[in-house]
Amino acid sequence: MKCPCSPLSCCYFSLGLTVGFFFTLYMTNNASMVDKWQKLSRSWKWNNENLTQISDNKVSENLSKSVRVLCWIMTSPNNLQSKAIHLKRSWTRHCNITLFMSSTANETFPTIGLGTKEGREELYWKTIRAFQYIHQNYLDQADWFLKADDDTFVVMENLQFLLSNYTPEQPIYLGKRFKPFVNQGYMSGGAGYVLSKESLKRFVEAFRTGVCTHTSSIEDLALGQCMEKLGVIPGDSRDSEKRETFHPFTPETHIITRYTADSIYWGYCYYPLIQGPQCCSDLAISFHYVPPELMYTLEYFVYHLRAYGYQYRYQPPLLEIAANVSV
Ligand SMILES: *[C@@H]1O[C@H](CO)[C@@H](O)[C@H](O)[C@H]1NC(C)=O
Ligand SMILES: *[C@@H]1O[C@H](CO)[C@@H](O)[C@H](O)[C@H]1NC(C)=O
Ligand SMILES: *[C@@H]1O[C@H](CO)[C@@H](O)[C@H](O)[C@H]1NC(C)=O
Ligand SMILES: *[C@@H]1O[C@H](CO)[C@@H](O)[C@H](O)[C@H]1NC(C)=O
Repeated sequence: MKCPCSPLSCCYFSLGLTVGFFFTLYMTNNASMVDKWQKLSRSWKWNNENLTQISDNKVSENLSKSVRVLCWIMTSPNNLQSKAIHLKRSWTRHCNITLFMSSTANETFPTIGLGTKEGREELYWKTIRAFQYIHQNYLDQADWFLKADDDTFVVMENLQFLLSNYTPEQPIYLGKRFKPFVNQGYMSGGAGYVLSKESLKRFVEAFRTGVCTHTSSIEDLALGQCMEKLGVIPGDSRDSEKRETFHPFTPETHIITRYTADSIYWGYCYYPLIQGPQCCSDLAISFHYVPPELMYTLEYFVYHLRAYGYQYRYQPPLLEIAANVSV
């Protein structure tokens, strides 16, 4: 098992190829960051000798202090009791700050009222207003700003680990990268995406100056087009085995379903689609279309379930269990 995220040096290398000299300069200035990554990635190699380092809660405790993530959940008045409440009781407890964003305020839940209407047509307005609200009220209280739906499940510690490879000053955003419509691709809305502080600043400023406007109600695509205009780079969130970390469907769909080369999903994936057990990183970050029952089930699988006799997760060879199951 190699280091679970793509090494920063590689990331800089590919950036360097496209952006050239400018980034080479930047890279030199960030040598200490590369050092930090290399230390981290060494300690994340899974072997029996130094597994203790991984499982020490201090690693994730430290990360939650140095990588502060504000989570905002896109929800609506009708979804509070049926969906949002289950996020509140499960994974959002691991966020540094959690804000439930809705068209109208509810002081009991509580939700923030964005003053928009409800419905699919309003999704991009909600996102624009939400980021404006966060920029005005929470900019200094977090480094990274995660947008998720009220049926997205997130493993916060894995997100923090991925983000520890970057700095909030970089104009970058990360998520499940889709290919069509935008040259540099865009991040799926349902799988959740995370903006660095710098990206948040650029986004809000662009709406103030009119560089970006409400072009379409297709929230994730419209945001991706704005990001491209602003020079915000779509990060590669795959691990070192090229397995994805952000997922636009349920775990079941990713593990079992086989997509053919002519399927819409295949065409949407920016990176080559890996199907079956290798679909998903061991340090997966998100899944989507997660019903309430599965929220709690995932919480149990991620934070509690272990195989007896192994102090740490045992990693048997992956079985092609799903090969004969067609959906
Ligand atoms: C983990 O163990 C390997 C030997 O198996 C060693 O080379 C490496 O330095 C250790 N990593 C850390 C961070 O101690
Ligand atoms: C956590 O942070 C403390 C204080 O900065 C440091 O002394 C300790 O080595 C860190 N532990 C780990 C496992 O990173
Ligand atoms: C949020 O971050 C602050 C500052 O590092 C920290 O004191 C606080 O405990 C964090 N809260 C949560 C819920 O992680
Ligand atoms: C506000 O939220 C509370 C708690 O979730 C809920 O019981 C109540 O019905 C909500 N109020 C409105 C006006 O939607």
